[in-house]
Amino acid sequence: MNCYWVSWAEMPTLFTLMVMFLASFMAPTVSSSASLKVGFYKNTCPSAEAIVRNTVSKAVAANPGMAAALIRLHFHDCFVRGCDASILLDSASGIPAEKVSMGNKGVQGFEVIDEAKAKIEAQCPNTVSCSDILAFAARDGVFKAGGIHYAVPAGRRDGRVSLASEVTKNLPDASFNVEQLKNNFARKGLSLEEMVTLSGAHSIGDSHCSSFSNRLYHFNATHSQDPSLDPAYASYLKTQCPLHPTAKNNLDPVVPFDAVTPDRLDNNYYKNLKKHKGLLTSDQVLWIDPSTRKTVRGNMNHPAAWAAKFASAMVHMGSIDVLTGSQGEIRKKCIIVN
Ligand code: HEM
Ligand SMILES: *[C@@H]1O[C@H](CO)[C@@H](O)[C@H](O)[C@H]1NC(C)=O
Repeated sequence: MNCYWVSWAEMPTLFTLMVMFLASFMAPTVSSSASLKVGFYKNTCPSAEAIVRNTVSKAVAANPGMAAALIRLHFHDCFVRGCDASILLDSASGIPAEKVSMGNKGVQGFEVIDEAKAKIEAQCPNTVSCSDILAFAARDGVFKAGGIHYAVPAGRRDGRVSLASEVTKNLPDASFNVEQLKNNFARKGLSLEEMVTLSGAHSIGDSHCSSFSNRLYHFNATHSQDPSLDPAYASYLKTQCPLHPTAKNNLDPVVPFDAVTPDRLDNNYYKNLKKHKGLLTSDQVLWIDPSTRKTVRGNMNHPAAWAAKFASAMVHMGSIDVLTGSQGEIRKKCIIVN
Protein backbone atom coordinates (compact mmCIF):
# COMPACT_ATOMS: atom_id res chain seq x y z
CA MET A 1 0.00 0.00 0.00
CA ASN A 2 1.65 3.19 -1.17
CA CYS A 3 -0.09 5.59 1.10
CA TYR A 4 1.57 8.40 3.07
CA TRP A 5 -1.30 8.88 5.48
CA VAL A 6 -0.80 7.36 8.88
CA SER A 7 -3.12 4.62 10.05
CA TRP A 8 -4.78 4.91 13.48
CA ALA A 9 -2.69 2.03 14.73
CA GLU A 10 0.41 4.11 14.06
CA MET A 11 -0.91 7.25 15.70
CA PRO A 12 0.52 6.65 19.18
CA THR A 13 3.99 6.31 17.67
CA LEU A 14 3.58 9.51 15.72
CA PHE A 15 2.31 11.27 18.82
CA THR A 16 5.29 10.08 20.84
CA LEU A 17 7.63 11.33 18.15
CA MET A 18 5.94 14.73 18.11
CA VAL A 19 6.23 15.04 21.87
CA MET A 20 9.89 14.08 21.73
CA PHE A 21 10.44 16.58 18.92
CA LEU A 22 8.81 19.42 20.88
CA ALA A 23 10.50 18.40 24.11
CA SER A 24 13.84 18.58 22.38
CA PHE A 25 13.37 22.35 22.05
CA MET A 26 12.09 22.89 25.54
CA ALA A 27 14.53 20.82 27.55
CA PRO A 28 17.61 20.06 25.51
CA THR A 29 18.74 16.48 26.15
CA VAL A 30 19.01 16.28 29.91
CA SER A 31 15.96 16.91 32.01
CA SER A 32 17.80 17.71 35.22
CA SER A 33 20.13 20.23 33.56
CA ALA A 34 17.44 22.84 34.11
CA SER A 35 17.95 22.55 37.86
CA LEU A 36 21.63 23.52 37.77
CA LYS A 37 22.07 27.17 38.75
CA VAL A 38 24.81 29.74 38.37
CA GLY A 39 25.78 30.85 41.88
CA PHE A 40 24.41 27.69 43.48
CA TYR A 41 26.76 28.08 46.50
CA LYS A 42 26.25 31.84 46.93
CA ASN A 43 24.72 31.39 50.36
CA THR A 44 25.97 27.99 51.47
CA CYS A 45 29.65 28.34 50.52
CA PRO A 46 30.32 31.77 49.04
CA SER A 47 34.06 31.23 48.58
CA ALA A 48 33.80 27.84 46.82
CA GLU A 49 34.41 29.11 43.30
CA ALA A 50 37.22 31.44 44.43
CA ILE A 51 38.95 28.58 46.23
CA VAL A 52 38.84 26.46 43.08
CA ARG A 53 40.05 29.38 40.98
CA ASN A 54 43.03 30.04 43.28
CA THR A 55 43.95 26.37 43.43
CA VAL A 56 43.81 26.05 39.64
CA SER A 57 45.79 29.29 39.16
CA LYS A 58 48.55 28.02 41.38
CA ALA A 59 48.61 24.59 39.72
CA VAL A 60 48.69 26.04 36.20
CA ALA A 61 51.42 28.50 37.16
CA ALA A 62 53.52 25.55 38.34
CA ASN A 63 52.61 23.38 35.34
CA PRO A 64 50.92 24.98 32.30
CA GLY A 65 49.82 21.53 31.11
CA MET A 66 47.46 21.32 34.08
CA ALA A 67 44.82 23.45 32.31
CA ALA A 68 44.51 20.81 29.59
CA ALA A 69 44.44 18.02 32.13
CA LEU A 70 41.52 19.55 34.05
CA ILE A 71 39.48 20.18 30.90
CA ARG A 72 39.96 16.59 29.77
CA LEU A 73 39.13 15.27 33.23
CA HIS A 74 35.75 17.04 33.14
CA PHE A 75 35.04 15.75 29.61
CA HIS A 76 35.87 12.17 30.59
CA ASP A 77 33.77 12.48 33.74
CA CYS A 78 30.73 13.76 31.85
CA PHE A 79 30.80 11.13 29.09
CA VAL A 80 30.78 8.20 31.51
CA ARG A 81 27.73 8.11 33.82
CA GLY A 82 27.26 11.86 33.46
CA CYS A 83 29.09 14.65 35.28
CA ASP A 84 29.01 12.90 38.66
CA ALA A 85 32.72 12.82 39.55
CA SER A 86 32.79 9.06 38.97
CA ILE A 87 36.18 9.50 37.30
CA LEU A 88 37.64 10.69 40.61
CA LEU A 89 36.78 7.54 42.57
CA ASP A 90 39.50 5.01 43.35
CA SER A 91 38.86 1.33 42.70
CA ALA A 92 37.01 -0.25 45.63
CA SER A 93 36.19 -3.82 46.69
CA GLY A 94 38.50 -5.14 44.00
CA ILE A 95 36.39 -3.66 41.19
CA PRO A 96 38.48 -1.51 38.82
CA ALA A 97 37.27 2.10 38.68
CA GLU A 98 37.03 4.38 35.63
CA LYS A 99 40.42 5.95 36.25
CA VAL A 100 42.30 2.69 35.65
CA SER A 101 40.68 2.02 32.26
CA MET A 102 42.84 2.28 29.11
CA GLY A 103 40.27 4.79 27.88
CA ASN A 104 41.49 7.14 30.59
CA LYS A 105 45.12 6.78 29.59
CA GLY A 106 47.03 9.91 30.56
CA VAL A 107 44.27 11.61 32.57
CA GLN A 108 45.83 13.79 35.21
CA GLY A 109 44.91 16.60 37.58
CA PHE A 110 43.34 14.55 40.39
CA GLU A 111 45.57 16.18 43.01
CA VAL A 112 44.33 19.66 42.02
CA ILE A 113 40.73 18.63 42.60
CA ASP A 114 41.66 16.97 45.90
CA GLU A 115 43.44 20.11 47.07
CA ALA A 116 40.50 22.37 46.21
CA LYS A 117 38.10 19.93 47.86
CA ALA A 118 40.14 19.82 51.09
CA LYS A 119 40.20 23.62 51.32
CA ILE A 120 36.48 23.86 50.62
CA GLU A 121 35.63 21.15 53.18
CA ALA A 122 37.58 23.11 55.80
CA GLN A 123 35.28 26.10 55.23
CA CYS A 124 31.96 24.48 54.37
CA PRO A 125 31.86 20.77 55.16
CA ASN A 126 29.51 18.44 53.25
CA THR A 127 28.29 21.18 50.95
CA VAL A 128 30.14 21.37 47.65
CA SER A 129 30.17 18.34 45.36
CA CYS A 130 33.29 16.97 43.70
CA SER A 131 31.47 17.08 40.36
CA ASP A 132 30.87 20.84 40.73
CA ILE A 133 34.49 21.38 41.77
CA LEU A 134 35.57 19.53 38.62
CA ALA A 135 33.27 21.65 36.44
CA PHE A 136 34.61 24.87 38.07
CA ALA A 137 38.20 23.68 37.68
CA ALA A 138 37.72 22.89 33.97
CA ARG A 139 36.20 26.36 33.48
CA ASP A 140 39.17 27.95 35.27
CA GLY A 141 41.52 25.89 33.09
CA VAL A 142 39.74 27.20 29.99
CA PHE A 143 40.16 30.76 31.28
CA LYS A 144 43.82 30.30 32.18
CA ALA A 145 44.73 28.69 28.85
CA GLY A 146 42.40 30.57 26.53
CA GLY A 147 41.09 33.70 28.24
CA ILE A 148 37.59 32.37 27.55
CA HIS A 149 35.20 33.07 30.40
CA TYR A 150 31.86 31.46 31.21
CA ALA A 151 29.65 30.97 34.24
CA VAL A 152 29.15 27.39 35.42
CA PRO A 153 25.65 26.35 36.50
CA ALA A 154 26.12 24.19 39.61
CA GLY A 155 24.20 21.90 41.94
CA ARG A 156 25.54 18.58 40.67
CA ARG A 157 25.75 15.75 43.17
CA ASP A 158 28.30 12.97 43.26
CA GLY A 159 27.70 9.42 42.09
CA ARG A 160 28.56 6.31 44.06
CA VAL A 161 29.58 4.05 41.18
CA SER A 162 32.68 3.98 39.00
CA LEU A 163 33.35 1.09 36.65
CA ALA A 164 36.36 0.76 34.35
CA SER A 165 34.21 -1.41 32.09
CA GLU A 166 32.00 1.58 31.20
CA VAL A 167 34.78 3.86 29.93
CA THR A 168 35.75 2.79 26.42
CA LYS A 169 32.19 2.14 25.35
CA ASN A 170 31.21 5.71 26.22
CA LEU A 171 34.26 7.75 25.21
CA PRO A 172 35.12 8.49 21.58
CA ASP A 173 38.21 6.77 20.21
CA ALA A 174 41.10 8.49 18.44
CA SER A 175 40.52 6.26 15.41
CA PHE A 176 36.87 7.32 14.94
CA ASN A 177 35.57 8.78 11.68
CA VAL A 178 33.07 11.65 11.64
CA GLU A 179 30.06 9.35 11.57
CA GLN A 180 31.29 7.56 14.71
CA LEU A 181 32.19 10.83 16.45
CA LYS A 182 28.80 12.26 15.58
CA ASN A 183 26.96 9.24 16.96
CA ASN A 184 29.10 9.16 20.10
CA PHE A 185 28.37 12.81 20.91
CA ALA A 186 24.71 12.46 19.90
CA ARG A 187 24.29 9.74 22.52
CA LYS A 188 25.29 12.38 25.08
CA GLY A 189 22.91 14.94 23.60
CA LEU A 190 25.66 16.96 21.89
CA SER A 191 25.40 18.09 18.29
CA LEU A 192 27.81 17.58 15.42
CA GLU A 193 28.71 21.25 15.58
CA GLU A 194 29.37 21.02 19.34
CA MET A 195 31.61 18.01 18.68
CA VAL A 196 33.68 20.01 16.19
CA THR A 197 33.75 23.05 18.46
CA LEU A 198 34.79 21.10 21.58
CA SER A 199 37.50 19.28 19.65
CA GLY A 200 39.24 22.67 19.67
CA ALA A 201 40.36 21.65 23.18
CA HIS A 202 43.01 19.70 21.27
CA SER A 203 44.86 22.98 20.77
CA ILE A 204 46.39 22.36 24.21
CA GLY A 205 47.93 19.44 26.02
CA ASP A 206 49.50 16.38 24.58
CA SER A 207 48.97 12.83 23.43
CA HIS A 208 50.86 9.61 23.88
CA CYS A 209 52.41 8.28 20.66
CA SER A 210 50.35 5.11 20.99
CA SER A 211 47.17 7.13 20.37
CA PHE A 212 48.18 7.95 16.77
CA SER A 213 51.30 5.94 15.83
CA ASN A 214 49.26 3.70 13.51
CA ARG A 215 49.13 6.79 11.25
CA LEU A 216 52.92 6.82 11.05
CA TYR A 217 53.89 3.18 10.65
CA HIS A 218 51.06 0.78 9.88
CA PHE A 219 48.13 2.70 8.50
CA ASN A 220 46.60 0.12 6.17
CA ALA A 221 47.42 -2.57 3.62
CA THR A 222 48.37 -0.09 0.87
CA HIS A 223 49.76 2.85 2.88
CA SER A 224 52.15 2.51 5.79
CA GLN A 225 51.68 6.23 6.49
CA ASP A 226 48.32 8.04 6.61
CA PRO A 227 48.19 10.00 3.32
CA SER A 228 46.06 12.67 5.02
CA LEU A 229 49.05 13.54 7.25
CA ASP A 230 51.35 16.34 6.06
CA PRO A 231 54.63 14.55 5.16
CA ALA A 232 56.89 17.04 6.98
CA TYR A 233 54.70 16.82 10.08
CA ALA A 234 54.76 13.01 9.82
CA SER A 235 58.58 13.08 9.69
CA TYR A 236 58.69 15.26 12.79
CA LEU A 237 56.27 12.95 14.60
CA LYS A 238 58.43 9.94 13.70
CA THR A 239 61.39 11.59 15.43
CA GLN A 240 59.24 11.95 18.55
CA CYS A 241 57.63 8.52 18.26
CA PRO A 242 60.19 5.95 17.11
CA LEU A 243 58.89 2.71 15.63
CA HIS A 244 60.87 0.72 18.15
CA PRO A 245 60.94 2.74 21.34
CA THR A 246 63.29 1.54 24.04
CA ALA A 247 62.37 1.11 27.65
CA LYS A 248 65.55 3.02 28.46
CA ASN A 249 64.19 6.15 26.78
CA ASN A 250 60.42 6.03 26.89
CA LEU A 251 58.13 3.27 25.65
CA ASP A 252 55.29 5.69 24.96
CA PRO A 253 56.43 9.32 24.75
CA VAL A 254 54.03 12.26 24.54
CA VAL A 255 53.74 14.87 21.77
CA PRO A 256 51.96 18.24 22.00
CA PHE A 257 48.74 18.60 20.02
CA ASP A 258 49.88 22.02 18.84
CA ALA A 259 53.66 22.21 18.52
CA VAL A 260 53.58 26.02 18.10
CA THR A 261 51.43 27.15 21.07
CA PRO A 262 51.00 23.97 23.15
CA ASP A 263 49.54 25.79 26.17
CA ARG A 264 47.32 28.27 24.37
CA LEU A 265 43.67 27.27 23.98
CA ASP A 266 42.82 28.90 20.65
CA ASN A 267 41.48 28.22 17.17
CA ASN A 268 44.95 27.39 15.84
CA TYR A 269 43.75 23.79 16.10
CA TYR A 270 41.50 24.37 13.08
CA LYS A 271 44.30 26.01 11.10
CA ASN A 272 46.40 22.92 11.75
CA LEU A 273 43.62 20.69 10.41
CA LYS A 274 43.56 22.61 7.14
CA LYS A 275 47.34 22.15 6.92
CA HIS A 276 46.88 18.40 7.48
CA LYS A 277 48.57 18.67 10.84
CA GLY A 278 45.82 17.14 12.94
CA LEU A 279 47.45 14.79 15.43
CA LEU A 280 44.74 12.17 15.86
CA THR A 281 42.67 10.56 13.12
CA SER A 282 39.61 11.96 14.93
CA ASP A 283 41.08 15.46 14.49
CA GLN A 284 42.08 15.23 10.83
CA VAL A 285 38.78 13.70 9.70
CA LEU A 286 36.97 16.90 10.74
CA TRP A 287 38.67 18.67 7.84
CA ILE A 288 38.51 15.77 5.38
CA ASP A 289 34.81 15.01 5.83
CA PRO A 290 32.57 17.44 3.92
CA SER A 291 29.96 17.32 6.70
CA THR A 292 32.29 19.04 9.19
CA ARG A 293 34.70 20.99 6.99
CA LYS A 294 32.43 24.05 6.91
CA THR A 295 32.40 24.25 10.71
CA VAL A 296 36.17 23.79 10.83
CA ARG A 297 36.56 26.62 8.32
CA GLY A 298 34.18 28.84 10.29
CA ASN A 299 36.00 28.18 13.57
CA MET A 300 39.30 28.85 11.80
CA ASN A 301 38.17 32.21 10.40
CA HIS A 302 36.15 33.47 13.36
CA PRO A 303 38.09 32.99 16.60
CA ALA A 304 35.73 35.05 18.77
CA ALA A 305 32.68 33.16 17.51
CA TRP A 306 34.47 29.86 18.12
CA ALA A 307 35.38 30.93 21.67
CA ALA A 308 31.74 31.82 22.43
CA LYS A 309 30.52 28.51 21.00
CA PHE A 310 33.21 26.65 22.94
CA ALA A 311 32.04 28.24 26.20
CA SER A 312 28.40 27.31 25.67
CA ALA A 313 29.28 23.81 24.51
CA MET A 314 31.31 23.34 27.72
CA VAL A 315 28.26 24.38 29.75
CA HIS A 316 26.09 21.98 27.75
CA MET A 317 28.61 19.15 28.21
CA GLY A 318 28.65 19.93 31.94
CA SER A 319 24.94 19.16 32.14
CA ILE A 320 25.09 15.60 30.78
CA ASP A 321 23.11 13.19 32.98
CA VAL A 322 23.77 15.17 36.16
CA LEU A 323 22.51 14.05 39.55
CA THR A 324 20.65 16.80 41.40
CA GLY A 325 18.39 17.40 44.40
CA SER A 326 18.49 14.36 46.67
CA GLN A 327 20.18 12.07 44.13
CA GLY A 328 23.70 10.84 44.85
CA GLU A 329 25.65 12.47 47.65
CA ILE A 330 28.14 15.20 48.51
CA ARG A 331 31.34 13.22 48.90
CA LYS A 332 33.61 14.17 51.78
CA LYS A 333 36.65 13.06 49.78
CA CYS A 334 36.59 12.87 46.00
CA ILE A 335 38.42 9.54 45.79
CA ILE A 336 35.98 7.57 47.93
CA VAL A 337 32.22 7.34 48.47
CA ASN A 338 30.92 8.39 51.90
C1 HEM B 1 36.09 14.26 19.60
C2 HEM B 1 36.48 13.15 20.18
C3 HEM B 1 37.71 13.09 21.03
C4 HEM B 1 38.66 12.12 20.96
C5 HEM B 1 38.65 10.91 20.06
C6 HEM B 1 39.68 12.47 21.93
C7 HEM B 1 40.81 11.71 22.17
C8 HEM B 1 41.91 12.15 22.88
C9 HEM B 1 43.15 11.45 23.00
C10 HEM B 1 43.45 10.08 22.38
C11 HEM B 1 43.99 12.20 23.74
C12 HEM B 1 45.42 11.87 24.12
C13 HEM B 1 45.47 10.86 25.24
C14 HEM B 1 46.86 10.35 25.42
O1 HEM B 1 47.30 9.56 24.58
O2 HEM B 1 47.54 10.77 26.37
C15 HEM B 1 43.28 13.39 24.12
C16 HEM B 1 43.79 14.41 24.88
C17 HEM B 1 43.07 15.53 25.25
N1 HEM B 1 41.72 15.75 25.02
FE1 HEM B 1 40.56 14.72 23.75
N2 HEM B 1 39.33 13.63 22.54
C18 HEM B 1 38.13 14.05 22.04
C19 HEM B 1 37.42 15.15 22.44
C20 HEM B 1 37.81 16.01 23.45
C21 HEM B 1 36.96 16.99 24.07
C22 HEM B 1 35.48 17.19 23.76
C23 HEM B 1 37.72 17.64 24.99
C24 HEM B 1 37.34 18.73 25.95
C25 HEM B 1 36.40 19.60 25.77
C26 HEM B 1 39.05 17.07 24.93
C27 HEM B 1 40.13 17.50 25.65
C28 HEM B 1 41.39 16.95 25.59
C29 HEM B 1 42.57 17.56 26.17
C30 HEM B 1 42.63 18.92 26.83
C31 HEM B 1 43.63 16.67 25.97
C32 HEM B 1 45.08 16.83 26.43
C33 HEM B 1 45.18 16.32 27.86
C34 HEM B 1 46.50 16.56 28.54
O3 HEM B 1 47.45 17.07 27.94
O4 HEM B 1 46.60 16.23 29.73
N3 HEM B 1 39.05 16.06 24.01
N4 HEM B 1 41.99 13.33 23.58
C1 LIG C 1 44.31 2.94 2.68
O1 LIG C 1 43.99 4.31 2.94
C2 LIG C 1 43.91 5.11 1.78
C3 LIG C 1 43.70 6.54 2.21
O2 LIG C 1 42.66 6.65 3.14
C4 LIG C 1 42.80 4.59 0.87
O3 LIG C 1 42.73 5.38 -0.29
C5 LIG C 1 43.07 3.14 0.53
O4 LIG C 1 41.98 2.63 -0.21
C6 LIG C 1 43.26 2.30 1.79
N1 LIG C 1 43.64 0.96 1.44
C7 LIG C 1 43.06 -0.11 1.96
C8 LIG C 1 43.58 -1.45 1.50
O5 LIG C 1 42.14 -0.04 2.75
